[in-house]
Amino acid sequence: MSPVPTVRLRPATDDDRDRVLRWRNHEVVRQASFTTHVIAPDEHAAWWSRVAADDARHLHIACADGEPVGVVLFDDAGGGADWSFYLDVDGLEARRALLPTWIATEIATLDHAFGPAGYAELRGEALAKNSAVIKLHERFGFTVTGEYRRDVDGEPETVVRYALTAAAYREEEPA
Ligand SMILES: CC(C)(COP(=O)(O)OP(=O)(O)OC[C@H]1O[C@@H](n2cnc3c(N)ncnc32)[C@H](O)[C@@H]1OP(=O)(O)O)[C@@H](O)C(=O)NCCC(=O)NCCS
Repeated sequence: MSPVPTVRLRPATDDDRDRVLRWRNHEVVRQASFTTHVIAPDEHAAWWSRVAADDARHLHIACADGEPVGVVLFDDAGGGADWSFYLDVDGLEARRALLPTWIATEIATLDHAFGPAGYAELRGEALAKNSAVIKLHERFGFTVTGEYRRDVDGEPETVVRYALTAAAYREEEPA
């Protein structure tokens, strides 16, 4: 396995649009999402424009040692943010770097959320069957705050909600 890289977040630009569609359409990411169809380029372009025009949504590209490796989306609400992310599964698997990059992206996300972005809380959701994601979040201090059932392409699925406050994050950080 590769060593844990240094990941930094930067705001997405239109040059990132095609790579983000490619990453989002990977089978692994679709199966982790709440809609699993292959997203067409025009559907993606419309979504991209909506996100760019929305002051509450902040789309970032995670870069590992300068290379784009994933997407991190913050959606401001109530002094905190709803957060979702996915990675370049193909590219990172080819480099045997998926897990270390995922860990580094989570660290960069928390540093950004509770640093420059100034959020009081970060919240996320994942399918219950995606237990590896939930366990990793728990290792970073997230706690499960609830769950609900929703339809995912015609199938009922359990979705787990998790959250971490800035105060709890600072308490856990090494001095
Ligand atoms: C996987 C994950 C990113 C899915 O994100 P999401 O925003 O909830 O995605 P959804 O599938 O619910 O999409 C929400 C809406 O945006 C649309 N959308 C999302 N990304 C889009 C894109 N790139 N282009 C077009 N539409 C898009 C969806 O079609 C959906 O539209 P609808 O509300 O009209 O149905 C999110 O659940 C998450 O962060 N999970 C935990 C982390 C994880 O498992 N990551 C993947 C591992 S690599």
